[in-house]
Amino acid sequence: MKKSSRESWSGQLGFILASAASAIGLGNLWRFPYLTAKYGGGIFLLVYFLLLLTIGAMLMTTEIALGRKTRLSPLHGFGKLVKSWSFLGILFVAVSAVILPYYIVIGGWILKYVFAYAFIPQEITDAAHPANTAFFSNFISNPSQSLLFAGMFFAMSALFIVMGVKNGIEKMNKILMPALFFLAIAIAGYVCMQPNAIEGIKYYLVPDLNKFYVETNGTSHFSFTMLCKTIVAAMGQMFFSLSLAMGIMVTYGSYMKKSDNIENSTWHIEFCDTIVAIIAGLMIIPAAFAFPPAGQTGIEAVSQAGPGLLFETLPRVFTQMQAPKMITLSFFVLVLAAALTSSVSMMETLQSSIKDKMKWSRKKSVTILSVYILIMMIPHSLCYSNACKGFFSKKILGMEFLSLNDFLANSVLMPLGAFALCIFVGWILKPNFIIREIETKGNTFKLKKFYSLTIKWIAPIFIAIILVTCILSGLKIIDI
Ligand code: PHE
Repeated sequence: MKKSSRESWSGQLGFILASAASAIGLGNLWRFPYLTAKYGGGIFLLVYFLLLLTIGAMLMTTEIALGRKTRLSPLHGFGKLVKSWSFLGILFVAVSAVILPYYIVIGGWILKYVFAYAFIPQEITDAAHPANTAFFSNFISNPSQSLLFAGMFFAMSALFIVMGVKNGIEKMNKILMPALFFLAIAIAGYVCMQPNAIEGIKYYLVPDLNKFYVETNGTSHFSFTMLCKTIVAAMGQMFFSLSLAMGIMVTYGSYMKKSDNIENSTWHIEFCDTIVAIIAGLMIIPAAFAFPPAGQTGIEAVSQAGPGLLFETLPRVFTQMQAPKMITLSFFVLVLAAALTSSVSMMETLQSSIKDKMKWSRKKSVTILSVYILIMMIPHSLCYSNACKGFFSKKILGMEFLSLNDFLANSVLMPLGAFALCIFVGWILKPNFIIREIETKGNTFKLKKFYSLTIKWIAPIFIAIILVTCILSGLKIIDI
């Protein structure tokens, strides 16, 4: 493909919006609030911010610059730079390829809730109501239902991809992102005005260093394990939330114009991502503190991991709060918009990798990608179903197929890719390679000294520790 024929964003704003739209997703609205509640509220926020401003920002800058330099998607781009490093492109694309099918299945679950809240009369209280505990388990164990909704969510994502970078993805983001932002503010405002919400707000926003102290034999002492746990959780969340180490920022950077400022764009993207995560916490944590489901405290209710928080606890909390149906419906519409823009970014990365590698048209690569997704959706949708006689619901390492892939992508492949990226850029290409790309067309890179130090030393050392810890804890060798 000739370089001049590559599509591009209409400008820096289009790029920032698209990258923020990829970053803002289930990670912000679901994972962030529960991790914050679980790891002590304000103190987790503090650790998260420190990581965001250092390692997160430098890695994001690196990925965008690599994409813009090569003007290629990762699958092709890394090998073009240094032949023996083409495996890194494969690794990046593999992360998106593993995450996308289950992200689409979860997108289908959200769509189901949007339908349920839009069409079910408020008076219904039996298992047909989403706030009933049986609703979610009935739904995910029904193979045809979960496949149908995943299929609809897939079709929505594919539509924007077929329409292209400027006309599809950019236009979608220009509508959905501001809508998402205002809805989030409105819901958070409604929740924070509820009586007793203040306790949750305090827990969420005020850092309390005592969270790092544990009591043994009546004396309290600093717990290094607790600090490590918090850093590992914050780091994993940062990678997932910023869509790092999966080729997305490389792909989106490859559509960026040379005159646009990469350093500034990075700060804008991080700002948007973080502000939405913080607002999400303000929707969820104070609500659960003020109206905890029976038999649970607020902290227990929010720090429950997995689908339970979004699909079981929150509908119950909203019902207990006697929130108008409009509020709960808006909440799920907002989650749907966030998930859609993230799934589009993953699909775009994969289709653009196929397109660059095979030199096919956008339509042809989208078709091949769709076949892959539709096939992979089946085991992910059916792994919770009893009807499939245990074939798809077999557990590996104690995890269902969907959770296993989540573990593989987030705890193994993603840190592995991030570590390899630091070695590649810090030691093989050398930081100056990236600095030069950032400084093209008269732009300056203010943090270039810090950049070199981070990419060569700080980031790889931190990431290596995370990688080892995640694998050991996933295999249940250590408890973290
Ligand atoms: N960053 C997205 C979120 O916070 C998740 C995501 C993961 C998006 C992988 C694209 C790729 O939910």
